[in-house]
Amino acid sequence: MEIRVVAGDITTFAGDGLVVNLFEAARGPAKGTPQGATAAVDAALGGALDRLIRAGEITGKWGEQTLIHALGRLRAERVLVLGLGKPEELTADRVRAAAAEAARTLRKSGARRIGTLVHGAGAAGLSAGQSAQAVVEGTLLGLYRFTRYKTNDDHAKVVERLTVVERDARRLGAVREAVWRGRILAEAAIAARDLVNEPGNTLTPTELARRARAMARAARVRCEVLGPPALRRLGAGGLLCVARGSQEPPRLIVLTYGGRGGGPHLGLVGKGVTFDSGGISIKPAENMEAMKGDMAGAAAAIAATCAIARLRLPIRVTAVVPATENLPSGTALKPGDILRAMSGKSIEVINTDAEGRLILADALTYARRRQVTHLVDAATLTGACVVALGTVNSGAFANNQTWLETVLAAGRAAGEKIWPMPMDAEYDELIKSDIAEIKNTGGRKGGAVTAAKFLQHFVGETPWVHLDIAGTSDSDKEKGYLTKGATGVMARTFVALAMDMAAKK
Ligand code: BES
Ligand code: MN
Ligand code: ZN
Repeated sequence: MEIRVVAGDITTFAGDGLVVNLFEAARGPAKGTPQGATAAVDAALGGALDRLIRAGEITGKWGEQTLIHALGRLRAERVLVLGLGKPEELTADRVRAAAAEAARTLRKSGARRIGTLVHGAGAAGLSAGQSAQAVVEGTLLGLYRFTRYKTNDDHAKVVERLTVVERDARRLGAVREAVWRGRILAEAAIAARDLVNEPGNTLTPTELARRARAMARAARVRCEVLGPPALRRLGAGGLLCVARGSQEPPRLIVLTYGGRGGGPHLGLVGKGVTFDSGGISIKPAENMEAMKGDMAGAAAAIAATCAIARLRLPIRVTAVVPATENLPSGTALKPGDILRAMSGKSIEVINTDAEGRLILADALTYARRRQVTHLVDAATLTGACVVALGTVNSGAFANNQTWLETVLAAGRAAGEKIWPMPMDAEYDELIKSDIAEIKNTGGRKGGAVTAAKFLQHFVGETPWVHLDIAGTSDSDKEKGYLTKGATGVMARTFVALAMDMAAKK
């Protein structure tokens, strides 16, 4: 999609659909009144919006949409009035969601060229830049579709151009920059969605590495891919043992961005199980197809690293992605097996379906050897986290309160909800093994925490946050800027995190 930024009068926008907005009146019977650019559109329409407001048909309530035809009074075919709710309740995330819903409504109406205001700039402390960025992110994410395997569907309807109209020419520079940033952020999440939606038969570990390499090249990020011989030399027992049941060789994908020298060095680790059958501890058939998405953490880490490079953020990043399938076979890892991880720790395997922590153990060790100063991992790690938090929040588990708060703030900036979970020492008891140093499951109780506790054995003193995205990596409905299927969760949070670290440097 082409995105333009123009300064001027929105009533002169020539195109198929024009998005304007209305706040809900703060209180009492007073009806909202069109303001700013919306008022100019109302005037061009001969007061039509004002009449609809007086009639109570347009209230400005959050989420409200009213599509009216301009009937030749404007150079735009249709006008969509978006309800923004109460001004004091407006957030960047509401702008993202509203822009997404508006774009989808207009696409359904056949609009190819959309014009929009910078919604709510100046309200609730949102700057023009923040609003413009949110409009672009929301529009691109809300219009996302995974069409690769659909032929001759109704995808003829495509929005080709978004024109962001800013009245105040003095803000044009800030809006342009924000649009550029919003596009890079949205495209990161979209790249992650594409990877997650891709089925397991095409997106094997080898193919994931190939795609990572192509993305890295385009963003001028360094990419190294380690196969079984290099992994054996490194003693990557976790990754190698999980891969043993599959015909597909495992890969350790390593992306690096930024020069040598001091300063913060962000380590991004993402679980890359391209299909999780459970292995010998095989999963039930129902919903097993969803396990093609067990590499959503990997997708976020790869996409974010490339976006950080495209934004030229002054920070170092190393992304480490262990990629493998988890399948049963005559050579597969078995319950009761004991393996040795890259760090040297021995692990008793109780359940081969707790494979994510085995491969992440090696990836975390590897990232630390690359001298990262801060670690964050994203993984579709446990069903227990979905039981605890549902599909609304990702779970956060940390060994460092300051770093945890930094990651939570990045999630808020991106509009990706993250909830902190406990990490008390008492949980460690549950993963003690009688014959090895640790075992890979701690029973059903507190399953999301014991998984995090397992990972903690491999991060040492490095500030670290583990994000369990099992419940948030895909969506079963179209809502706001989420579409059905992969969400691309944590791609934007990771970029926001790097932005924050770069700003504090
Ligand atoms: N990939 C799954 C976790 C998962 C479940 C992700 C549902 C998305 C939706 C993970 O590898 C797994 O199987 N975890 C087990 C761990 C258990 C055996 C300790 C689980 O959650 O059941
Ligand atoms: Mn599993
Ligand atoms: Zn898994």
